[in-house]
Amino acid sequence: MAKQQQDSQNIKRIVSGMRSSGKLHLGHYKGVLQNWLTLQEDKECFFFAADWHGLTTEYANPSVVKEGIWDMLMDWLAVGIDPEKSTIFIQSQVPEHAELHLLLSFMTPLSWLERVPTYKDQIAQLREKDLGTYGFLGYPLLQSADIMMYRADAVPVGEDQVPHIELTREIGRRFNHLYRQGIPPLFPDCQALLMPTSKLPGLDGRKMSKSYGNAITLCEPWKDTEKKVKTMPTDPARVRREDAGTPELCPVWDFHKVYSTEEERNEVREGCTTAGIGCLDCKSILLKHLKDELEPIRERREDLAKRPDDVKDIVRAGNEKARREARKTMDKVRKSVKLDYKL
Ligand code: TRP
Ligand code: SF4
Repeated sequence: MAKQQQDSQNIKRIVSGMRSSGKLHLGHYKGVLQNWLTLQEDKECFFFAADWHGLTTEYANPSVVKEGIWDMLMDWLAVGIDPEKSTIFIQSQVPEHAELHLLLSFMTPLSWLERVPTYKDQIAQLREKDLGTYGFLGYPLLQSADIMMYRADAVPVGEDQVPHIELTREIGRRFNHLYRQGIPPLFPDCQALLMPTSKLPGLDGRKMSKSYGNAITLCEPWKDTEKKVKTMPTDPARVRREDAGTPELCPVWDFHKVYSTEEERNEVREGCTTAGIGCLDCKSILLKHLKDELEPIRERREDLAKRPDDVKDIVRAGNEKARREARKTMDKVRKSVKLDYKL
């Protein structure tokens, strides 16, 4: 732990991308965005919408990717990702990423890509899509290019992405070894900053996911959230108000663990196990916390929806800033691989 803390002080630059999966939900907020909010306070952060990564699986439905991008970017801004602190941009608007991906592809052994565990998993999981493509095999390498472009030393990701960060480190070392003998390495060893996985499940106790229909979307109307929580399943033993229950068998309890104070949790435990309170009483405690958290996000989101031009300006400025950094890296990369034609 002490070591990790020390490491995190040495971290200067962070890159992270997100595929546009449409409107973001509370799981994204608790699992990813809250970590980004902390990081942007004292690190130099580059956060981007990974539209090209979206196309690796959605190449047949590009409008899905496009629509998702704006929803996602507006949600980032609504939760407080701050363009004054972080560089917010769209991957495809910095075409240098594609150039670096290409140059890296020359030195990447196929076997390194084939052994990335997400590769075969995803192909098996998304069987309805034909992912036996060149681009899909290169997915993690494109991610490496995203990260190396900003010479980031850390990448906040979930557990499933760790192999991609390891690949990035290997590729960076290979580049340094091949082209930077006797001169300072270009790419730092980057590390995965493992984000604590969200303890918040979906409304039905499974992982929160749009495809399970168990999500609270960040910008849905409050009355929808209220209805979802009120109809959330509870411990099935509590058929009637008089039946006692066990919080551990109830997804509402998992929400209390994330949101409620210790005092409230004691009250809930006592009330549930003695049938002293009903499930709706229990849920109303939770609703208060959810409202406090979600209301300001929704207000900002609504405000942003009224100012689409301002959102565009923010992203345009972010694209330009990212591109300036990307150009610096690419000048050095081109020089390294002898593509610096002085014409
Ligand atoms: N593969 C990542 C995911 O699915 C998204 C991503 C693309 C990314 N490029 C990145 C994450 C660079 C971190 C850094 O979540
Ligand atoms: Fe779940 Fe609360 Fe009902 Fe107990 S009282 S079963 S914790 S909703």
